Formats: sequence, structure tokens, C-alpha cells
Amino acid sequence: MSVRRLAEPALQPASFAFNEANLAWAEQTIKKYPAGRQQSAVIPLLMRAQEQEGWVTKAAIEYVADMLGMAYIRVLEVATFYTQFQIKPVGTKAHVQVCGTTPCMLRGAEDLKQVCRNKIHPEPHHCNESGTLSWEEVECLGACVNAPMVMIFKDTYEDLTPERLAEIIDEFEAGRGEQVPTGPQTDRFFSAPATGFTALTDEVNVLKTTRDALAREAAAAAAAAEAGSAELPPSEAGRPKTDAIETNPAVKSPSPVKASPAAEASASVAAPATNQVEANKSVTGEQRADADKPAEDADKKSV
Ligand code: FES
Repeated sequence: MSVRRLAEPALQPASFAFNEANLAWAEQTIKKYPAGRQQSAVIPLLMRAQEQEGWVTKAAIEYVADMLGMAYIRVLEVATFYTQFQIKPVGTKAHVQVCGTTPCMLRGAEDLKQVCRNKIHPEPHHCNESGTLSWEEVECLGACVNAPMVMIFKDTYEDLTPERLAEIIDEFEAGRGEQVPTGPQTDRFFSAPATGFTALTDEVNVLKTTRDALAREAAAAAAAAEAGSAELPPSEAGRPKTDAIETNPAVKSPSPVKASPAAEASASVAAPATNQVEANKSVTGEQRADADKPAEDADKKSV
């Protein structure tokens, strides 16, 4: 970790003050904190000072300290501790922050740093001759999936090659930085796999708008089918295939026997006895002869 010191006195401006808009914003920001805790606004105020001036000057540190009723040394500690604060002048058109953490380093961050050395300055934290460009190496900026990458102001430029970074630096130097597309510099879709989807291979499944449209279409089709089905006869698909007499559609129901309790009682036979011996005893000779008769008739026919 490098020692972070304020810029030399010769580079420090004589004074600092928030412009009108930033002053109003700062006063509102301070009010967000409870009484006695206004010092908690030190980081947002320093960031706003950096956005206004390009870097955090000694005068800005003292100005913020006075606003928050803090000792100068306390604000200086904050400004020098957090590397998000630039405490030396940076390029007026671009300050390139090259991620040098492991994923980016494995994917070519060293080559990106070499581009910065060649095009801007051999050393980080130094401006080029015209003062328009500067660069530094920083720790992970949270876009590791799209390594290697750089950040310029608040935007990230990812999936970089040395050639593409050189083009981007040239665009910023020419004042056309706003036109450079941010994010992946390849045809990669945000942080989707570089070789294409491996799981949700159908983009239809990815976009919620598309999913919603498909769901609406399916619901409309189901409603139309339901409306049309009212005119169709019942399906026979679930009807069991059987030759049982009671399933014959020609049989009218209810049966006359079933419909009349008296007829049902006269047509019923006595319930069998509780064991077969008793059951056989209860059958009269005449009944046994009747029972045997169909078999005898059948025998005669077969002869
Ligand atoms: S390692 Fe470079 S963005 Fe995380």
C-alpha cells in the first residue's frame, strides 16, 4: 500500500468553496444526520468537492472540516485513507483507473497498464504533458466477470484489449468520451457468459417482458379454448371400455325393478345362509332341479 500525501503546495489552489448548487446539496445532506452526528457527512461532502474540482485539494479539506465542525486532521485522515479520493491533480479529460486485482491481472491488466504508460505517463498519478490525462492502478472495481476493465470517472469499460483501451483513451483526449459505450467492449450481453448462454439458452426465458407477453398469449388461448369447448359434446376419452350390460347405452334407467320397492322385494332371492352346508340345506329339490336344467339343456344342444 502506497503512502498517500497531499499534492505539493505549489499545486494547491488558494481557496475552495462549493458552488451554489453543491452548497444547497451539502446543506441538505448534513440535515440527514441526527444532531451531533453531522460529521458522518464527511465522505459525501468530500466526494462532492472532488466532483466539483476534479480532485480533493487542501483548501477543500479545510472547507469541509469547517462546515462539519471537525478538526482539519480528522478530515485529512479520511481523505488520505480512502483511495476513492484523488489528493493530487488528475487529467482534466480522463483519469483512467486500471483494475490490477487477480482476475483482471490474469486476463491482461498488465497490458492495459502498459498502454497507459505509453499514452499518458510512465508513472501512475502523473498527468500527461497537457494535463488532460492521468492514470493509476486500483483494486477490484467489482466487474471481475468482465475482466480486464478500467473505470473512467463513474463509468466502467470492460472486456478490454490493449488496442481497445488505446482507442478509448484517444476518444477521451479528443473530447468524445461521452460517445464511448460503457460496459463490455465486445458483443457480450452485460456479464453473460462470453461464449454464450449455457443455461437459459432461449432469450425468451431471460427477458421478463417476453415472458409476460407469452403468459398473456397463453391465457388468451386458454380462455378461447374454454369458450369454444361449451359447444362440444362431452369427451369419450375417459369412458371405460367394457361389455357389462349396465354400461349399454340402450338400457334405460332407472330399472323398473329398482324404481319399485315392492317389485324389488318380489324379485329378490333369500340371502344365503351363513355357511355353505346350511345354504345347501335351504335349497329345495325343486330349486336344485331348476338350477340344473339350463346345464342339461345346453348338453342336449351340444349333442
Ligand atoms: S478483479 Fe478487476 S474488477 Fe474485480
